[in-house]
Amino acid sequence: MKNIIITVDGYSSCGKSTLARQLAKELNYVFIDSGAMYRAITLYFLRNHINWTHTASVTKALKNIELEFMPNQYTGVSDMFLNGENVEAVIRDMLVSENVSEVSSIKEVREFAVAQQQKMGEEKRIVMDGRDIGTTVFPKAELKIFMTANNKVRVERRYKEMFEKNPAITLEEVKKNLELRDYIDTNREISPLRKADDAIVLDNTNLTQEQQLKTALKWAKEKMK
Ligand code: DC
Repeated sequence: MKNIIITVDGYSSCGKSTLARQLAKELNYVFIDSGAMYRAITLYFLRNHINWTHTASVTKALKNIELEFMPNQYTGVSDMFLNGENVEAVIRDMLVSENVSEVSSIKEVREFAVAQQQKMGEEKRIVMDGRDIGTTVFPKAELKIFMTANNKVRVERRYKEMFEKNPAITLEEVKKNLELRDYIDTNREISPLRKADDAIVLDNTNLTQEQQLKTALKWAKEKMK
């Protein structure tokens, strides 16, 4: 079987990470959540009061950031570490979610993250999810999946996820955050979210997790032949 790179791009809360994680597990590949990297950088900027509209401050701050994925023995997947600290939970907070699209639209931030992502794919055998993985990070990936789902379904999924951590959150807040992130992600100047010409669309509005995994696995196995 051929070693390949699988990219999973799409809007926020389409279930990209869930599918990418399950695919990686089935194929014995490494799963990489590229969004976690942008979230960790955002967390660093927030904690250290970095003025990210100021290029020199961003460049200087990035020199002090070390990102690493390390396996979590309980979940079986990798957690995001920022300068040696496990930040997997805190990077999902609303404050980070509210600022991550802005931070991830900065040229220097993207160059920093993309270089590391490309390095992780040198040996192939990875499933990476994000927004620009099939277009910019791995334009030659063997299998590119572009995920979509109906907006209402995405808001409900995200709300359920957020509610577990913060029961005070409202559906309206979640909806606004998702809409704003979609807008920034698709309209930013560098590597905007768009479907790669050779990506296959997977609309999971009416699919169970098992069904979407089965479909993606079939595509992956075809490419691995
Ligand atoms: O997948 P996520 O929601 O955790 O991603 C967080 C943010 O990071 C998202 O709003 C857009 C940005 N992102 C990006 O610009 N490029 C990627 N490859 C992954 C995420």
